[in-house]
Parts: sequence; structure tokens; C-alpha cells
Amino acid sequence: MTAVVHTRAELATARAALTGTVGVVMTMGALHSGHESLLRAAREQADHVLVTVFVNPLQFGPNEDFDRYPRTLDEDLEVCRRAGADLVFAPSVADMYPDGAPGVRLDPGRLGGELEGESRPGFFHGVLTVVLKLLQLTRADLAFFGEKDYQQLTLVRRMVRDLDVPVRVVGVPTVREPDGLALSSRNRYLSPAERVTARSLSAALHAGSLAASDGASAADVLVAANAVFGDRSDVELDYLVLTDPDLEPGPVTGPARLLVAARVGTTRLIDNMAIRLDPR
Ligand code: PAF
Repeated sequence: MTAVVHTRAELATARAALTGTVGVVMTMGALHSGHESLLRAAREQADHVLVTVFVNPLQFGPNEDFDRYPRTLDEDLEVCRRAGADLVFAPSVADMYPDGAPGVRLDPGRLGGELEGESRPGFFHGVLTVVLKLLQLTRADLAFFGEKDYQQLTLVRRMVRDLDVPVRVVGVPTVREPDGLALSSRNRYLSPAERVTARSLSAALHAGSLAASDGASAADVLVAANAVFGDRSDVELDYLVLTDPDLEPGPVTGPARLLVAARVGTTRLIDNMAIRLDPR
């Protein structure tokens, strides 16, 4: 049985009745197979699964898609029921931010201003603020985040470590369409032609990964990945970078992460892949 609650008071009561470990999967709804794999991981590793569904206004810029972000609560609840979630918390904005937008927000530090943070100022302040609030409200023992949003996962891990938040963060591998496209709630914005174009992000990561496994240098990995975009006019590349797995600056050798962001039509997509750099 999946219980659904909408207010903090209801959540507190329902949470108090859960004994054993609680795993939280935080979402903005519009659930897809990527979320289902987070739910499965939570089911396997925790005694109870708690899902939050909240489109957080704090992490959207003024010209972003907060208003048109898909809101599909009935379908989402069906996914949660099928996955055996114990509890769903789907609060309103007024419930999460009763005094309006909070004056105090978490500062994500240097990394929060890079990559996604450079293109979306304030994004990670909003993400970390709501993640911390949801951790406090749910009192989860484990929290599951997708590797698809790799910078988010890295910053959540860092916040938990830096602020001694009593939760274990679990990263869950990205789920892909058969042609390689990483699942994302925003894929539904793509027209059929854009959907084909969107394959270029994962294709670039694969090209980089292949070059790395052939012993290419960091520079040549980037050349191979960039070549997939060539002079295409249907993809606007935002960044394609190779970093160490913790997104720390400096030269990269051994385990590394290749990250890409691009706009296809009006939709901004991101993806990333683990690679190994052992240049010959
Ligand atoms: O990844 C998301 O869906 C959101 O950024 C999160 C973690 C639910 C916070 O709003």
C-alpha cells in the first residue's frame, strides 16, 4: 500500500509510523524508467521507500520552464505504487515555503558556479536548499540520486559531508533509451526530429569513451567527442568537458568523467559518462 501525503504535518505522522531504514527518492515528478531504477535501488537497500514529488521553484531561473514543467501526479502515483513505494510526499509550494521564497539558501561553493551553475545561475542554491529541507522533513537514512545529474549528485554528496547531514547518499547509474539517449523528464519536450538530434549527446560521450579506451590523451578524447557535433546547426553545444570524478579542477588521469550539455531546439539536455584515461 502506498500512502500519499501533501502536508508537513501528514508527512510527520506517516513518517513516525515507519520503523527500520527509510530510503528517499526525491523527484520533480514526470516519472520515467530512470526514476523507476532509483525506486528499485531504494527498495533493495532500505526497509521503506519514500518518494517526494515537488517541482521546486527555487531551482528555476526566470526564463526557464517552471510553468511548463510536466506535472503528472496521477501517473506518478501509479509508478510509485507499482514500484512498491511506502509513502509519497507531494507538497504544494506554500507547504514547502510557507513564508515565500527562503531568504537563507545553501551556498554550493565554487562547483555550484561551474558547468550547469554557469548556465543556470542560482540553480544549485535552489537544488541544495530543497534537498536539505526534504532530508530534514523525511529524516531519511539513505537518499538515492541518479548519475544522470552528475554535478547535482556530486554537490549533494559534498553538502552531506561538509554539513554532517546524517544520511547515506547512493548514486544510481543512468538509464538510457536503446539508441543511447539518457532518460530525462525533459525529453518529452523534443519533437520527433529533435529526438533524433538528441542522440548526438550520448554519441559524443561514446566517441570520447572509445578514444580513451584506445589510449588517447585527454585532449584527443575531447577532439573525438567534439567531432560528433562537427558543424551541426541543430545542436547548440553549451559545454563538453573532461574532469576528475569529483569534478575537481586540474589534470586528469585514471578514472575521469566526460560531461556534456547542449540545447536541441528550446530544450536543454545534459549527459555524462565515466571513462578511464590511461594515455599510451
Ligand atoms: O533531480 C531532481 O529532480 C531535482 O533537482 C531534485 C533533486 C528533486 C530537487 O528538486
